[in-house]
Amino acid sequence: MTAHVLFTIFGASGDLAKRKLYPSLFRLYKAGHLGEHFAVIGTARRPWTKEFFEQIVIESLGDLPDNSRQAHAFASHFYYQSHDVNDTEHYVALRNLQKELGQQYDTQNNKVFFLSMAPEFFGTIARHLKSEQIVDGQGFERLIIEKPFGTSLETATQLNNELSETFEENQIYRIDHYLGKEMVQNIFAVRFANIIFEHIWNRDYIESVQISFAESIGVEDRGGYYDHSGALKDMVQNHVLQVLSLLAMDKPASFSEQDVRAEKIKVFQSLKQQTDQEIKQNFIRGQYTAGSIDGKDYPAYLDEANIQENSQTETYAGGVFFVDTDRFRDIPFFFRTGKRLTEKGTRVTIIFKQAEDIFGQHSERNVLTIYIQPTEGFSLSINGKEVGSHFALTPAKLDFRHNATALGNSPEAYEKLFFDVLKGDSTNFSHWEEVKASWTLIDRIVALWQDNQVPLHLYPAGTMGPQAAFDLLESYGSQWIWTPDVWYRERGLLK
Ligand code: BG6
Repeated sequence: MTAHVLFTIFGASGDLAKRKLYPSLFRLYKAGHLGEHFAVIGTARRPWTKEFFEQIVIESLGDLPDNSRQAHAFASHFYYQSHDVNDTEHYVALRNLQKELGQQYDTQNNKVFFLSMAPEFFGTIARHLKSEQIVDGQGFERLIIEKPFGTSLETATQLNNELSETFEENQIYRIDHYLGKEMVQNIFAVRFANIIFEHIWNRDYIESVQISFAESIGVEDRGGYYDHSGALKDMVQNHVLQVLSLLAMDKPASFSEQDVRAEKIKVFQSLKQQTDQEIKQNFIRGQYTAGSIDGKDYPAYLDEANIQENSQTETYAGGVFFVDTDRFRDIPFFFRTGKRLTEKGTRVTIIFKQAEDIFGQHSERNVLTIYIQPTEGFSLSINGKEVGSHFALTPAKLDFRHNATALGNSPEAYEKLFFDVLKGDSTNFSHWEEVKASWTLIDRIVALWQDNQVPLHLYPAGTMGPQAAFDLLESYGSQWIWTPDVWYRERGLLK
């Protein structure tokens, strides 16, 4: 497929555009999905020339191992329009440029709009796109929107209402870049293409699920944003719950966008509404203090740039969700995510119930781990017989990781998501019903946290979070399977 399309990117000078969007578009170009019939209009406030913009685009492709002739040819499709989102005149100029480029590149009136800027402008932009007839009902018209989609149910609903004045739900592609990750998409394969899992993926055989999204980085230069967000809104409301929905959903009637989405939405709507008392016990918030790992010192969150004095923002969120369906009722889905944890690791662990003793021997629980990042693969622990003349059980681990070559070829999340948008496939995007249900739940946790009804636990940078999160699992008779701290401690690398 080679697309006929005009992209308009709002926020073209931003970090995301440079880090992710341009390189991903370039990969689609190299793969032949974008050819002669595409153009990109980049907009932002700064007064850039086309030449300067092209240069920015080329530089953003920096570490892509390819010849510069191709990069220059690609960048020649990029045009820049300085833009003030509140100024109607600017949209008139945009429409004129759109018309001109549409003819020049024969884009067949197909348009993709990408909003990658502060969310408070999303509504204004969408409104103008309609009133100035940039969205004119000709060709396909799709809106890609970056997170955060609101900061609460109220703001998300308001935003959604604003967008719906211009776009139908099936034209809106809410990005959750985790849904573009190779191993997140692989959850479908593991669950539904394996008879050994498909039939036991339920409360009769699964004891609990653990979702760990650990990051070793701190807040970097995003303190201003992060301090108003915190881990719960930054990672749990979207990424964690999206992955949870893929793990918990029923098998869709078919693997069509409609059927998959319907099953996912059901999970979101079945997330158990816990009582205030349960929320206080079941959700843990933490913030990192100074720490050191492997000889390197890290400052406390409160000492990072652009963080308010005495900020109570959580850099760690952990807890347990329940999905009130026949498949998973009462089965804990534990999660944790945080900054400045011991190491970067995104993984999902499924813990199966314990088998009965055999010949008087105690068996270990089978554990399936899906490694999402930084390595990609699976492991499955099983019980085997110890070598020798007597019968004794010993655990064995079947371990598979994609090899480096496969990883090199695996498309970037954004590349896959863009490709989906070009195909008009929104399976791997968040539906409004999902967003709505997740905010409904998250708002209640936020309210109790803001009211300081739950302690803010401190944890040293370079550890796996506050002790309270470990205690929580213990209170359910469980424990975190993945414990990188232990590895570091044993080697004296953690202070
Ligand atoms: C983003 C969050 O959505 O996801 C960041 O805003 C976080 O705070 C990032 O660092 C993690 O994504 P990834 O792909 O690096 O795991």
